[in-house]
Amino acid sequence: MIRKLCVAPMMGCTDRHCRFLFRLLSPNTMLYSEMLTTGALIHGDYQKFLEHAEDAASAFQLGGSDPHQLAQAAKLVENAGYQEVNLNCGCPSDRVQQGGIGACLMAEPRLVAQCYEAMADAVSIPVTIKTRIGIDHHDDYAHFKAFISESYDSGCRNFQIHARKAILQGLSPKENREIPPLNYDFVRQIQKDCPDAEFVINGGITTARQVQDLLVEFPGVMLGRAPYSNPYLLVELEQQVFGTTAVTRAAVFRQYRGYMAEQMYAGVHGEAPPWAIYWPARRSSFQTPPFHPHAQRRCRPVGCRRCRKVCGHRNLLTPGSK
Ligand SMILES: Cc1cc2nc3c(=O)[nH]c(=O)nc-3n(C[C@H](O)[C@H](O)[C@H](O)COP(=O)(O)O)c2cc1C
Repeated sequence: MIRKLCVAPMMGCTDRHCRFLFRLLSPNTMLYSEMLTTGALIHGDYQKFLEHAEDAASAFQLGGSDPHQLAQAAKLVENAGYQEVNLNCGCPSDRVQQGGIGACLMAEPRLVAQCYEAMADAVSIPVTIKTRIGIDHHDDYAHFKAFISESYDSGCRNFQIHARKAILQGLSPKENREIPPLNYDFVRQIQKDCPDAEFVINGGITTARQVQDLLVEFPGVMLGRAPYSNPYLLVELEQQVFGTTAVTRAAVFRQYRGYMAEQMYAGVHGEAPPWAIYWPARRSSFQTPPFHPHAQRRCRPVGCRRCRKVCGHRNLLTPGSK
């Protein structure tokens, strides 16, 4: 069950750098990308958008409502090596609504089913749907079940449910994650009504204890804000859910520092800082001081001058060198 423990898609948060950190903390968690619209993917620099590193068990979330475009985008996602492609039917933001995507799709169950069919026909990885339990006044169980049933009848068996409704007018996306009350009962009921489908529960889960209790009832749990504000929670959850040996904060810090240096050298976020030469990302190439900065392949004389100025490493020589 690869979705037993999941980190939720979060725009502006779960980019590839965040997922790299989460992967270091938890090798078995399913990680979801931020949502990207089909238009941005198909007409933009898709290789850049889909780039991901050391990111096994990861899913890419698409925003869209055109079956043909979703199929095309899903194919790109599969080719980029993701294990799952996810359709967003839960985002309530005004901009997303204007594009006719996200949570407003809950009013169009037939269209969502068609989108699912087109995506599922195009790829061999699982296609999943992340949704709310309702929108506006369509918030009773019958509406929720009718929405799920259309996609279920089209073959979808994997859903992630943010267990609160979305109010499309008058609440900001942030308020829509806090004000409508959580209702796990809808998710309990739909899991009973469709026992061969998998409903991953999401919304308001913050502790390892909660995860433990919910995993008795549901095949999987998804957490968003809690691991983002306290990433080390993932280590505790990984240990509890998968029985994996905990990784230390120091080890993660070392590896992530190396990753940052590597990314900076690749020009991802401006110029690499002088200290970056000391922290190659891969453990195999990791060297502990003392060593001379000239011994580093990437270190140019200017870098050394800068090192001397910034960190005073003039005297850190490799054994035997002068
Ligand atoms: C900053 C932020 C951005 C989000 N972006 C997305 C998104 O791109 N796609 C999506 O399906 N949900 C998005 N969500 C909703 C989360 O996936 C999740 O459903 C919600 O935060 C509830 O889970 P939590 O209580 O564990 O945080 C976002 C949430 C936050 C806080």
